[in-house]
Amino acid sequence: MPKLTIAIDGPAGSGKSSLARRVAQILGYLYLDSGAMYRALALKALRGGVALDNAAALQELARNTHIELKPPTPEQEAAGYKNRVFLDAAEVTHEIRTEEVARAASQLATIAEVRHVLVAEQQRAGAGGGVVMEGRDIGTVVFPRAELKIFLDASAEVRAERRWKEHQEKGDRLTLEEVLEEVRQRDKRDRERKVSPLVRAADAVLVDNTAMDVEETARLVVMLAREREKELVKAVGREA
Ligand code: CDP
Ligand code: CDP
Repeated sequence: MPKLTIAIDGPAGSGKSSLARRVAQILGYLYLDSGAMYRALALKALRGGVALDNAAALQELARNTHIELKPPTPEQEAAGYKNRVFLDAAEVTHEIRTEEVARAASQLATIAEVRHVLVAEQQRAGAGGGVVMEGRDIGTVVFPRAELKIFLDASAEVRAERRWKEHQEKGDRLTLEEVLEEVRQRDKRDRERKVSPLVRAADAVLVDNTAMDVEETARLVVMLAREREKELVKAVGREA
C-alpha cells in the first residue's frame, strides 16, 4: 500500500494530538506535532527574555535552536503526553504544556520569519511520507499536497473543558473560565494572523468531534485513509 501524508489541523483542544497519535499507531506511521515545535521555541524565548514581537531576534533564535520530537515513555503516555520534546538536547516535555507557553507560542507564530524556519524543518521531517502531522497550517502550507487532510473542530466550551481537565490532573489551579478565555484568545490570534492563519483547506474533510471520543474519531480517519490508499493504487494502475 502507498504511504500517505495525513495533515490534521484545527483549533486548541480540538483533539489533534490524540487523534494524530492514535491514527499513526494504527497505520504504523510517524506522528509529528508541529505545535510542540512552536511551544519549545516559545519556552526558549521566555527563558532568554527575548521579546515575543522581535522578529529579527526570534528568527535568529529559531535558526540556532534544535528541537527534536520522540515517542513518549510508557509512563509519559499514561500521564497523557503524546510525545517527548527536546529543546537543544534537554527534555522539555512537561515544561511546554502550560498556558503561558501556549500563549507565547501563538505570539511568535504570527511572525513570518519564524514560521519560515519551522516549516522548513517540518517539511524535512515529513518528507518520506507515512506521516501524520498536526498543527494549524499543515494542510494549507506545510503539506498542501497531502493525500488526506482533516480539519478537526469542536465547540469552544468542550475544547476548554478538555484542556482544563488536563490542567486539573497536573495540579495546575486554573479555573475553567480562565482556560476558556485563553483558548478563545489564542484561537482568535491563530485565525486572524496574516501569515498562515488557521483556516480549513478547501480539500480538507471537516470532522466535528464535540460529541465523539478519540477512538471513534480515529476509526473514522483510518477509514478515510484506507479509502485514499485504494484510490491511489487504482490511479497508479490506470497510469501503468
Ligand atoms: O492537540 P489538541 O490541542 O487539538 O488536543 P489534544 O491534546 O489531543 O486533546 C486535548 C484533551 O482532550 C486530551 O486530554 C484528550 O484526551 C481530550 N479529548 C477528548 O476527551 N475527546 C476527544 N474527542 C478528543 C480529545
Ligand atoms: O495543543 P494546542 O492545540 O493547544 O496547541 P499547539 O498545537 O501545541 O500549538 C500552540 C500554538 O502554536 C498555536 O496556538 C499556534 O499559534 C501555533 N502553531 C502554529 O501557528 N502552527 C502550527 N502548525 C502549530 C502550532
